[in-house]
Amino acid sequence: MKKILVTGGLGFIGSHTVVELQNEGFEVLLIDDLSNSSESVLDGITSITGKKPTFTKLDLKERSSVENFFKQHEDISGVIHFAASKAVGESVEKPLLYYENNLNTLIYILKEVIGLKDSNIIFSSSCTVYGQAEKMPITEQAPTQPAESPYGNTKQIGEEIIKDTCRASVHLKAIALRYFNPIGAHSSAKIGELPIGVPQNLVPFITQTAAGLRDCLSVFGDDYPTKDGTCIRDYIHVVDLAKAHVIALKRLLNKDNTSNFETFNIGTGVGSSVLEVIKSFENVSGKSLNYKIAPRREGDVISAFADTEKANTKLGWKAQSSLDDAMRSAWKWEQKIRNL
Ligand code: WQD
Repeated sequence: MKKILVTGGLGFIGSHTVVELQNEGFEVLLIDDLSNSSESVLDGITSITGKKPTFTKLDLKERSSVENFFKQHEDISGVIHFAASKAVGESVEKPLLYYENNLNTLIYILKEVIGLKDSNIIFSSSCTVYGQAEKMPITEQAPTQPAESPYGNTKQIGEEIIKDTCRASVHLKAIALRYFNPIGAHSSAKIGELPIGVPQNLVPFITQTAAGLRDCLSVFGDDYPTKDGTCIRDYIHVVDLAKAHVIALKRLLNKDNTSNFETFNIGTGVGSSVLEVIKSFENVSGKSLNYKIAPRREGDVISAFADTEKANTKLGWKAQSSLDDAMRSAWKWEQKIRNL
């Protein structure tokens, strides 16, 4: 059974990916520093798959801890690196925290991965590397734009660090998955998104408003040049996204990669407006959502949705769930954790 290390494995996307890895017969080692996640997620994973991942609480900013961990696990076949801070707004207020937490940790992980017999890494990147792309849908060839936030910058710089390391080290193979907007939860409602404090992202704010935790959703602007004036995004079910990681990992393990550093856009290929997401929620929940139009949010791009041709044909992955499916799972999860 091949051993895979998942960093940030108790996070939203990480936990769903651990479930899919276990479903595919991999042995999972999980590292998390619990700064933005809870150890109870481990129970959720175990209750879904019947297999408890080996969990190590570890701060990846401590280089010696990272070195010691890899000394004890020289038979790791691949690493899926999620661990990072990811709040766009917070990154503007605390840039050094983001550069330290997102880049130092990547460098320490890479230093160890290149020393493994099997040097394979999947990197959690983001469509934010494109900024406001000129052309929709966005392909992997779209030029990266200056990042709108330190968070987005750490994803751009992270990809460059990996690309340069792949070029310098003969046997390191890497894939960067550029996520669009991950939403929803596992169908069992045993794991899902657990935003700490007031949710920054649209979908958890919608479900918390419907659950009565928030009074009213603010729609940040309805005067954009789009079909209904609200911003367009590509909302992808988190389980579809998790499955993309397993497929990408197998691509490297099977040496099917065509170059040592590859990037893939992981989205549905469908652009949905904020008002369409609200409508989808109301359809699947049967509830009417309390929302109001508010001023635009600084840093928002008008539109971003993926051209999924490369992921569909080269990676052999395609999103299976619709916006309604994802919203239904998000609401089922919110109801479960609030005992509604
Ligand atoms: C989506 C749309 C908002 C909240 C960010 C990061 C991305 C990834 C996902 C980490 C926008 C609107 C939102 C609200 C609203 N993060 N909105 N009211 O900004 O597209 O992407 O989160 O990996 O890297 O950039 O996602 O969910 O914050 O916003 O109207 O209360 O919903 O203006 O148009 P975003 P989001």
